Amino acid sequence: MKKQLLSFLFGAFCLSAVAEVDYRVIPLPQQIDIDASGKYMLLSKGMTVCYPADNAQMKRNAEFAAEYFGMTVKAADKKGADVNLMLGLKSDSPDAYVITVGKKGITIQGASESGVFYGIQTLRKSVLNETDEIRLPFAMISGTPRFSYRGTELDCARHFFPVAFIKKFIDILALHGINRFHWHLTDDQGWRFEVKALPELAKKASVRPCTIIGKNIGLSDPDNAIYDDTPETGYYTQEEMRDIVRYAAERYITIVPEIDLPGHMIAAMSVYPELGCTGGPYKVWGIWGVADDVLCAGNPQTLEFLKTVYGELCDIFPGELIHIGGDESPRVRWKSCPKCQAKMQALGLKDEAQLQTYINKEMEAFLSKRGRQIIGWDETLEGGLSEKAAVMSWRGYEGGKAAAKLHHQVVMTPTSHCYFDYYQLQNRDAQPLGIGGYLPLSKVYSMEPVPEDLTEEEAKYIVGAQCNLWTEYMLSPSHVEFMLLPRLAAMSEVQWLMPEAKNYDEFLGRLALLEQSYRRLGYKFCTAYE
Ligand code: ACM
Ligand code: ZN
Repeated sequence: MKKQLLSFLFGAFCLSAVAEVDYRVIPLPQQIDIDASGKYMLLSKGMTVCYPADNAQMKRNAEFAAEYFGMTVKAADKKGADVNLMLGLKSDSPDAYVITVGKKGITIQGASESGVFYGIQTLRKSVLNETDEIRLPFAMISGTPRFSYRGTELDCARHFFPVAFIKKFIDILALHGINRFHWHLTDDQGWRFEVKALPELAKKASVRPCTIIGKNIGLSDPDNAIYDDTPETGYYTQEEMRDIVRYAAERYITIVPEIDLPGHMIAAMSVYPELGCTGGPYKVWGIWGVADDVLCAGNPQTLEFLKTVYGELCDIFPGELIHIGGDESPRVRWKSCPKCQAKMQALGLKDEAQLQTYINKEMEAFLSKRGRQIIGWDETLEGGLSEKAAVMSWRGYEGGKAAAKLHHQVVMTPTSHCYFDYYQLQNRDAQPLGIGGYLPLSKVYSMEPVPEDLTEEEAKYIVGAQCNLWTEYMLSPSHVEFMLLPRLAAMSEVQWLMPEAKNYDEFLGRLALLEQSYRRLGYKFCTAYE
């Protein structure tokens, strides 16, 4: 009874309160200079957001601002605007922004349209939790991200997530200043990418009739598993993917689509068994782990298949980077396959790792004609990188370091700091079943993507960092959100801030505010952290 009365009083108090914001959001702006005069402006719903009339992206930016702040949008030729969105900032990064709050209102300037978007997000996060009258102190706030590639990966093969959730996921990334969505679309356990020229592929390979019950990592014998009887199905139509590309682009997020090759291809091989070295038959996997069966590198149909698939992939995803996978592809079948061995001999290759490089080079040539650059997991280093391949370093920092020394672009995503499928709390009973491991918030925050022993020149090849959500044990959107948040907040400061600007304890203070925003936006998150 007493508690209820207190909360009522608190509520009444809040309604008449005035909130003065401090702009200390996540990721933390580089500079926050609050005017010493103590002057402020009131943010009010009657204001207008004004944008350059001839710029459609700025119009969209203005619409976001209007939506967040409850304002009206106007093109610039109309007078009387209180909020201005402007371009024209000079910076090395197109994502840099400056917000000015002064007697003329608010101005958000960006080095490009994306910079303005990030300025809007910073202002939005500053005021998101407030229901009272909001005071914006006169100030100059600026931000520039440290890295150009700020990624998050989501595996939609192990579990399928509907379009509505993919959009919510993109919204979450945008809130955290992420600009690359690495979309893992195919794997042994499901093929989620519609290919018009191969209508049977997604229709059949997207269906996993059953899934192993409980944990099985490392089990390579499907016949010895105990399965449920719940099919896991679903794929994205090309129309849906184009819609998602547009949705992401409005939020300055480029999709990096991944079709994993030559391993993690059992789902595709279940429809086209001739693409495997043994000829199958193969079934869409209901267990987790690494399959010995991979695409046959000596069968010319394999490259034909891949070019058909990647051709359509390029038609849908306009981003420069195309992910060709390359991880966890055992070469045991290739060793005893007459076609693979004949191919190696014909090309004068010394081992099977080089055979994988041969496929990568073919894919690079195919994709570069379409103006694309390939990126692959760090196993792609083993047989020699193709000419312009970028590398995603996941088995630690070493692969990324080696690639940077060879002057190849690198995205750092080591399991030690970036695998958000790992548990985030020591007490396993406090979390849903997961794959294992332990990656607490504090450890994510401590990540330094650039290894110390690289030269300044080599360090330039580390273009960014990425966290990964592999979904073997994430059955629902809310579980994905729980694994992502708040660790994504820590990752966003790794991606945006210089090491000297990071401070974990201080970050935790700001996180409390962001968590209120998560609640308000309906995002599930892990409320405890270590
Ligand atoms: C990976 O986690 N297999 C890239
Ligand atoms: Zn073969």
